[in-house]
Amino acid sequence: MEKMWAGRFSKTLDKTADDFNSSISFDKKMYRQDITGSMAHAAMLGAKNIIGADEADTIIAELEKILSDIENGNIEIDENCEDIHMFVEKVLTDRIGDLGKKLHTARSRNDQVALDLRMYLRDQIDRITELLKELVTVITDKADEHKATIMPGYTHLQRAQPITFGHHLMAYAMMFLRDIDRLADAKKRTNVCPIGSCALAGTTYDTDRIFEAEKLGFSAVCLNSMDGVSDRDFCVEFLSCASLIMVHLSRFSEEIILWSSWEFKFIELDDAFTTGSSIMPQKKNPDMAELSRGKSGRVFGDLMTMLTVLKGLPLAYNKDMQEDKEAVFDACDTVKMCLEVFTPMLQSAKACEENMKKAASGGFICATDLADYLVRKGLPFRTAYKIVGGAVGKCIAEGKTLETLPLEEYKKLSEVFESDLYEAIDLSACVEKRISLGGTSPASVSMQVDFAKNELKKY
Ligand code: ARG
Repeated sequence: MEKMWAGRFSKTLDKTADDFNSSISFDKKMYRQDITGSMAHAAMLGAKNIIGADEADTIIAELEKILSDIENGNIEIDENCEDIHMFVEKVLTDRIGDLGKKLHTARSRNDQVALDLRMYLRDQIDRITELLKELVTVITDKADEHKATIMPGYTHLQRAQPITFGHHLMAYAMMFLRDIDRLADAKKRTNVCPIGSCALAGTTYDTDRIFEAEKLGFSAVCLNSMDGVSDRDFCVEFLSCASLIMVHLSRFSEEIILWSSWEFKFIELDDAFTTGSSIMPQKKNPDMAELSRGKSGRVFGDLMTMLTVLKGLPLAYNKDMQEDKEAVFDACDTVKMCLEVFTPMLQSAKACEENMKKAASGGFICATDLADYLVRKGLPFRTAYKIVGGAVGKCIAEGKTLETLPLEEYKKLSEVFESDLYEAIDLSACVEKRISLGGTSPASVSMQVDFAKNELKKY
């Protein structure tokens, strides 16, 4: 196929070089943005009398038809074209002749591709935000239901202090709320319009960039044309947001995998979100969580790709930048896919409250509370800590627990102990007393749930 830029060449492009150079196999994803952007461009050219008003109308009407033809499957995107921009212009010119060739006045593919990608990404940010909001809603509902469900809290994966399952879940709600906020912030800098920057230096035509930006729903325009065509910071920002979303999903997945093991049995995943083994009949595997954990690597890779593509590039546009799209598309698709399966998997999972409680009981998980009990009786914390350490050592040596060690034994360690010590190490009491702001008590979890629900309304 003859290239639109063929004018100064005496040979056609080598076939392998042509394939290497072409981006249509992946940038065809942006056909809608490309056509919508071109419609706004034609409208601007018409409004500024750079082309005739009737010419602009004809171009816009035809672009509208091309859009619905692609959408209805009446035309197929021809991968012999170099990229989606060339394809749309070619179809337009095939259909309306020389008038189609006027569309590219006062623009370049360099600002066009930057425009398309920003439009594509802001829609994706909206979609991912919706998916995150659904996830946070599922988490907060579950947390509310389990605000008094006791489970062990861990540090170093060793039982540390009793917590509520609701509290544990709300930690993830906080992470995903930050992700939503980060995306909203990244969107501010994505939603800036580069069209009109042209190849790199702006144009001699009397264009109206603000008209075009407003038509396309942008909140600002890029104010340096060289930056306009070469800035991909918005991609890096999005990919960092996407990477953090994946970090959070991956950590949550890891816990879900542990919790659904026979060793823990804290939750039971629904059959609809688990898989079996081809050889071991008893297996019920948490594949969805494992894939969410595994796919994080792709998205981190996409971020590294983008940073590396950009780091040595001189201004302004360089073909290296064509590599931006696959990284961005892959991250968008991966994050969406993970969220689309993770949320219903979590929603349908059942908490095994008895097992959680059992894992929290009968050990030394309330040792800190026992030390705090001694502090309330007037001992300095370090002294109290040491006495309780002695009690734990004694229990381990005698096969007892803090709950079953008799009062006489406690008295030998410190005269301060009274029979009310047993109330101090009651699991429910330990949890209910943690009323400090952000603590694990049911009251605190309720407050966190209310906070999260209110936050969601902001986006
Ligand atoms: N397909 C190109 C890309 O994705 C479009 C811009 C091409 N511009 C150019 N001067 N070759 O970046």
